[in-house]
Amino acid sequence: MNVLQEAVSLRDKNSLGIDASARYFTRARSTDDLRHAIAWADAQNLETLILGGGSNLVFAGDFSGLVVQVGITGRCWQEINSDSAVLELGAGEPWHDCVLYAAKAGYRGFENLALIPGTVGAAPVQNIGAYGTELSDTMVDLTALDRTTGKVIRLTNEQCRFSYRDSLFKHEPGRYIIIRVRFRLSRTRDLQLQYHDLKDYFSDQDTSQLTPSDVAQAVMAVRRRKLPDPDQLPNVGSFFKNPVIPGTEWRSLKERHPDLAGYPAEDSAKVAAAWLIDQCGWKGYRNDRVGVHNRQALVLVNHSDGSGQDVLNLASRIREDVQSRFGVRLEIEPGVVGGATTGL
Ligand code: EPU
Repeated sequence: MNVLQEAVSLRDKNSLGIDASARYFTRARSTDDLRHAIAWADAQNLETLILGGGSNLVFAGDFSGLVVQVGITGRCWQEINSDSAVLELGAGEPWHDCVLYAAKAGYRGFENLALIPGTVGAAPVQNIGAYGTELSDTMVDLTALDRTTGKVIRLTNEQCRFSYRDSLFKHEPGRYIIIRVRFRLSRTRDLQLQYHDLKDYFSDQDTSQLTPSDVAQAVMAVRRRKLPDPDQLPNVGSFFKNPVIPGTEWRSLKERHPDLAGYPAEDSAKVAAAWLIDQCGWKGYRNDRVGVHNRQALVLVNHSDGSGQDVLNLASRIREDVQSRFGVRLEIEPGVVGGATTGL
């Protein structure tokens, strides 16, 4: 049976370092632990929050129910052939450690996702992505506890309905608790080096002999240059999604702002939210508690004991500015929980 703690500070359990507390807290190391914890919360009529690494969450206040941290570990190779293999990972495994582990074994597919904080179980929720790769490119399927039926089920990649920073799990919050995730990794597929930062990094090198570990190291170097380390300066990575707008709107914005940054596709475009925020003069802004990172305008940081509300207020001011200057609506990327917003 899991140990149940009462009145637990969540400060070291969320990468924004928000000093919220949970009325009850437990760590689940197995599917049975999960079932017990959920059954107990249901019997008390308490809300539950499933927590991974807490790296994509904003606590708007205290959480008055049960927080369950998923600590299910395990790494297992399956279906190994000369070209590829399936790697099954427990939901509580730290994502970055698994990236290095797979790359060291010579398998390709994870390397561009190095240094993304958080756990394996949280990764499919927002379909983590960076440097031209998304989790959905390699994920085969996952095992989850479906809270509506109490059954452990398998969801295929397609059933997870992945798109840019989006999945089934964002549309049915709380329904599924991810237990294990399976990925197909390749020994031979081309390394993905097209993203501008990686192109620049390798510009004077022969890239034909690169290993997945070399690419992971490059991604780590690029990220360390641009993004704050949550252990040094608390943050949740990009605070906003890059908004996707129709092609017509992109062209008219581009006419008015020729240096507008983004990723145009056929009939739509992803605008670089960082560029919009930067143009509004927010980059490097700080008040006495929270601010905008000085090297990447998409990242809000907690300088000194800021509350979730401090961060959300800053985010609102930024959104209003971007909306009135560019007519583009920014959407917040992390989940907001606790306080009056519980259930959002
Ligand atoms: N830019 C600015 N000002 C800034 C930062 C960037 O004008 O302060 C402009 C530059 O023109 C730059 C462009 O925005 O070329 C794009 O910036 P960057 O390459 O840093 O990527 P991004 O679109 O801002 C996305 C992801 C990151 C991911 C990088 C690399 C989202 C919301 N963010 O950022 O993901 O690491 O691409 O692939 O899609 C995260 O989700 O937490 C995250 C860090």
